[in-house]
Amino acid sequence: KEYYVGVDLGGTKILTALADARGKIVAKKKLPTEARKGEEKVIQNIVSSIDAVLQEKGLSREDVITLGVGSPGPLNTQEGIIYLAPNLGWRNVHIKDILEEETGIPVILENDANAAALGEKWFGAGQDVDNLIYITVSTGIGGGIIINKKIFHGINDGAGEVGHMVIEPGGPVCGCGNRGCFEAVASGTAINKMGREAVKENKATLLMELSGGDPEKIDGSLIARAARQGDEVARKIWDKAGYYLGIGLANLLNIFNPEMIILGGGVMNAGDLIMEPMKKSLKDHALESAFNSVEIRQAELGNDTGVIGAVAVAMGDRLLE
Ligand code: BGC
Ligand code: NA
Ligand code: ZN
Repeated sequence: KEYYVGVDLGGTKILTALADARGKIVAKKKLPTEARKGEEKVIQNIVSSIDAVLQEKGLSREDVITLGVGSPGPLNTQEGIIYLAPNLGWRNVHIKDILEEETGIPVILENDANAAALGEKWFGAGQDVDNLIYITVSTGIGGGIIINKKIFHGINDGAGEVGHMVIEPGGPVCGCGNRGCFEAVASGTAINKMGREAVKENKATLLMELSGGDPEKIDGSLIARAARQGDEVARKIWDKAGYYLGIGLANLLNIFNPEMIILGGGVMNAGDLIMEPMKKSLKDHALESAFNSVEIRQAELGNDTGVIGAVAVAMGDRLLE
């Protein structure tokens, strides 16, 4: 036994990786999550992806020491229960028990952003620091807080749910049921919504043109394209998202005074469009001492941050040796 498997369980895709004893990825498999087909189908897809990476290397389940799973949502790492994952439509799923029974491999469950934070700490942008905060800006906004090389979990694994800090009281409704959460104003979902609303209000001519008049086609990359072609409405959307992102990061800086903040997730592909207004807002809102001592970096592992993080979860304390 000298391999680890990591599974990055997302709302649309499952990314699975096989890693050697030192955490180096030797095989990868991507499958659609198919969350709409129900929990059993999703579990089946996870198991197929695990078998696929093993098969690629002529290995069997017995060769795997542990299986790390990164999943969205508040969850219980000890019991291996996902409490709430709106993007999967899941509530109280005992994923550790289910996967252990299906695969015979010991399972360690971790929040997706916590896992990604570990991935960047051990294999990515954060290798030289022991205190960092990782933020993923994607469908939702997730966070992982690393203090002295370890994830800060809080009393029942709820720490690092940065997407649900309130940024705009009374603001847009969030998937968690509250209003004005960080992810309700600055996530990919929030950005898409701003674009669609602008089109519905007949404000965004270039956005309308690029989407062929279908608001449902409007997403982050389209809004980015419009902004780069000089569309004012599209640029304002990025300005707004960057402004809120800066406020969220300022709050985290002032509370944790980390050495580094690492930003990942698809929304960050917009680059300068969101980074520039974010930096201005961060400087305006953070305490100077915290702002001056932090390094802001982009995730280094790209789309693999989550799955490499899940491998790091599987490796656990062996990383500290
Ligand atoms: C969830 C987090 C997750 C984040 C990114 C949020 O909606 O509450 O647990 O880390 O989305 O997937
Ligand atoms: Na987290
Ligand atoms: Zn929320």
